[in-house]
Amino acid sequence: MIAVRDPRAEALALDFPLLAQPTSRGKRLAYLDSAATSQKPQAVIDALVHYYTHDNANIHRGVYELAERATDAFEGARAKVARFVNAAEPAEIIWTRNTTEAINLVSFSWGLANLGPGDAILTTQLEHHSNLVPWQLLAAKTGAELRFIEVDARGCHVLDDLDEKLRGVKLLALSHVSNTLGTIAPLDLVIPKAHAAGAVVLVDAAQSLPHFAVDVRALDVDFLAGSGHKMCGPTGIGFLYGKRALLDAMPPFLTGGDMIREVGYEHTTFNELPWKFEAGTSNIADAVALGAAVDYLEHVGMDWIAAHERAITAYALERLQPFVARGLQIYGPESIERRSGVISFNFSDIHAHDLASILDTEGVCVRAGHHCTMPLMEKMGWPATARASFYLYTTERDIDQLALALEKAAQVFKVA
Ligand SMILES: Cc1ncc(COP(=O)(O)O)c(C=O)c1O
Repeated sequence: MIAVRDPRAEALALDFPLLAQPTSRGKRLAYLDSAATSQKPQAVIDALVHYYTHDNANIHRGVYELAERATDAFEGARAKVARFVNAAEPAEIIWTRNTTEAINLVSFSWGLANLGPGDAILTTQLEHHSNLVPWQLLAAKTGAELRFIEVDARGCHVLDDLDEKLRGVKLLALSHVSNTLGTIAPLDLVIPKAHAAGAVVLVDAAQSLPHFAVDVRALDVDFLAGSGHKMCGPTGIGFLYGKRALLDAMPPFLTGGDMIREVGYEHTTFNELPWKFEAGTSNIADAVALGAAVDYLEHVGMDWIAAHERAITAYALERLQPFVARGLQIYGPESIERRSGVISFNFSDIHAHDLASILDTEGVCVRAGHHCTMPLMEKMGWPATARASFYLYTTERDIDQLALALEKAAQVFKVA
């Protein structure tokens, strides 16, 4: 019998109906893939059902009560997200499908209007493809140079030559937290230096927003991108935060209905913020449900979530430690202060995919592969890694189940 030391996480897990579901093999589910997508609490599922059952209508255009209610719910959710990240006003929050689309918005709109030959874009060697490929394309289109902040063997940023790297940089784009290694970027050091060098800063917050409080004004970030589905919200909704002055000066990204003020056969004038960047009918229901997810996270408390994940990560590192002598390699920052709730590993010479398949037979869901960071994997010389990632509903029981499943993998693959 395993002692349960985190009763609040055990209680919170009950808010997530999917987690109560046993696997087809009758095993308890240990969902350790929250970096890929989070599970959804009942409150978010209910908000979606409630919207479609009671409030569904198209927004902004209708003068009847139902359309006004839908508009209020949609704009209310925007205000919640604005408050969640401490934006100066809701108009600085642009709805997108996800982090990827938010980054592309900046690349196509701000990037094409502001970059040219002789300019540079600075990113890091840790980035998810979503915060790399858009900049490769932007560099190719504009003639700008693409540079990289290097990371060391533990996946920590090397900043010795930052001043030099920042020379001529117009845009610094980096992830707040690495989805592969959990590295937390030293934004407090990097952002002031980037601004001093005249650069605009975009933060990919896909892996930070769900896990600890992110304050766009305290960070003084210019753009910040996030995905609803990683923060207890639905898929298909995310957002871009941008400082008003920058967003106001940017041309539209997608064009068509809703983003216009006046349209003639020859010319169009554009809507004000935030709608200038929201062409066509928005993903209203999912935005509303993301608002419910923000309510849920605030009710649990972002500081509690951060502390819980730190404790669970420390517990997991402790439970995995005995396997190290048997060939378990754990990647990422050594200091718990510098890592979030993501642990990438390989076990002896078992391929990460085989390892994940064995863990699955024990009800343990981990991701295996390159985690959309192929250049990082190549740099590190890892063909693939297995990755366990945690959230507010992760319990010590989940970690114990992971350790038992690793023992099974050791038996199956005859690891001594
Ligand atoms: C750090 C990071 N950036 C960007 C993304 C892309 O997010 P989405 O697929 O929701 O656009 C992810 C997804 O895993 C991520 O972890």
